[in-house]
Amino acid sequence: MNVYDSQRIANILQNMGHIPTSNINDADLVIFNTCHIREKAAEKLFSDLGRINLIKEERKEQGKETIIGVVGCVVQAEDQQIAKRAPYVNFATGPLTYYRIPEILQKIANQKDMCIIDTEFTAESKFDHLPQNHSEGGCSYLAIQEGCNNFCTYCIVPYTRGVETSRPVEDVIKEAKQLVATGTLEINLLGQNVNSYHGEDANGKERNLAYLLRRLAEIDGLERLRYTTSYPADVNDDLIACHRDLKKLMPYLHLPLQSGSDKILKAMNRRHTSGQYLEIIDKLRHANPDLGFSSDFIVGFPGETDEDFQATMDMVDKVGYIQAFSFKYSRRAGTPAAVYPNQVPEKIKSERLIALQDKLFALQLNFNKGCIGKTMPVLFESKGKKKGQLFGRTPYMQNLHAEISEQYLNKIVSVKVTDANTNSLSGEVI
Ligand code: 5AD
Ligand code: SF4
Repeated sequence: MNVYDSQRIANILQNMGHIPTSNINDADLVIFNTCHIREKAAEKLFSDLGRINLIKEERKEQGKETIIGVVGCVVQAEDQQIAKRAPYVNFATGPLTYYRIPEILQKIANQKDMCIIDTEFTAESKFDHLPQNHSEGGCSYLAIQEGCNNFCTYCIVPYTRGVETSRPVEDVIKEAKQLVATGTLEINLLGQNVNSYHGEDANGKERNLAYLLRRLAEIDGLERLRYTTSYPADVNDDLIACHRDLKKLMPYLHLPLQSGSDKILKAMNRRHTSGQYLEIIDKLRHANPDLGFSSDFIVGFPGETDEDFQATMDMVDKVGYIQAFSFKYSRRAGTPAAVYPNQVPEKIKSERLIALQDKLFALQLNFNKGCIGKTMPVLFESKGKKKGQLFGRTPYMQNLHAEISEQYLNKIVSVKVTDANTNSLSGEVI
């Protein structure tokens, strides 16, 4: 979602006549988009701000002005901290109000050195104010839902992104058609709790994600659809049927489990047990036997015992994930779990994370190796690290590098997989 927001901010600035620079010393305007999900992510902001302030000071000596802005969830949660720890910041806005950047920059231009902080939870939808003329190449994100009402006890998101809102169906279809018209072949629908989407159609009727996927699948020229991130308890039969019926829907689903222990899931306020999660996976596999799953995991949630952790390891084996993200529990001030007793010592969290990641990486490597010799349609979305190479994604979201002419950038090409490691595949164009 932050990548999507950053792209929108870049669109806003480009429409104002700004151009990007790859040399930070040349930048008249620097905006940080921030994440508050774990402590590490938030702390990074303050070290980056200190670094940029040195550049701001140097440029000042050369008679050049530098405007520094901060956007995103850190602002929503720690606006006073930013003003206190980094008083040289010119403006800060939360994730729901960054569409006001043009107004803010105007105010700053009129009155130098003004620090504006905008963390309002507006009733207005930011999507009504964002530029419509964007184009992201072959692969585009499209936000359809924002915020979350689930209030998992570890998570800061409902407090920073606010309660759930869904964009109207026709707005999404219009934006999707516009993306396809400018070369998009794959759309990844975004939302913190994307499968609880409930946007209104043209007649004011609430529609679900399955309806939206079926409508999007009808768009000529759109080849691939994905959606992320889903909440297990909100996977309904309509959505499962989409995985059976829609060829354009890619056979990869990110479905966070967080923990394999029912006791911990309850303490996390997740509305599912490990057994219910397995039932959903079974139904999805029945609908499309080729589906590959990924997940998020948190280790060291307060009260997690060795047995609870073992239950997570067992679930990994039962599901057989093809990819996953795993994190040490991070205390977020203001969330219920931050003050739970039985916080797990850092050392144990680290040991559990290593053990879990060893297992997850082994599964991922095994899946990737199993692809060697297979031919897959790959959407090449950017230049590779090495000259003459392009980087693309398989239907399973695997990274793939191939030696291929640049004319295939933003195209889907048949590629035979020749080699594989944990994080990427290599292939030859057929
Ligand atoms: N500590 C560690 N991981 C967290 N996540 C969310 N909040 C926390 C936290 N306080 C993880 C969850 C979520 C992913 C985006 O980040 O696994 O699915
Ligand atoms: Fe956070 Fe996701 Fe839980 Fe919502 S469903 S509170 S975004 S972890």
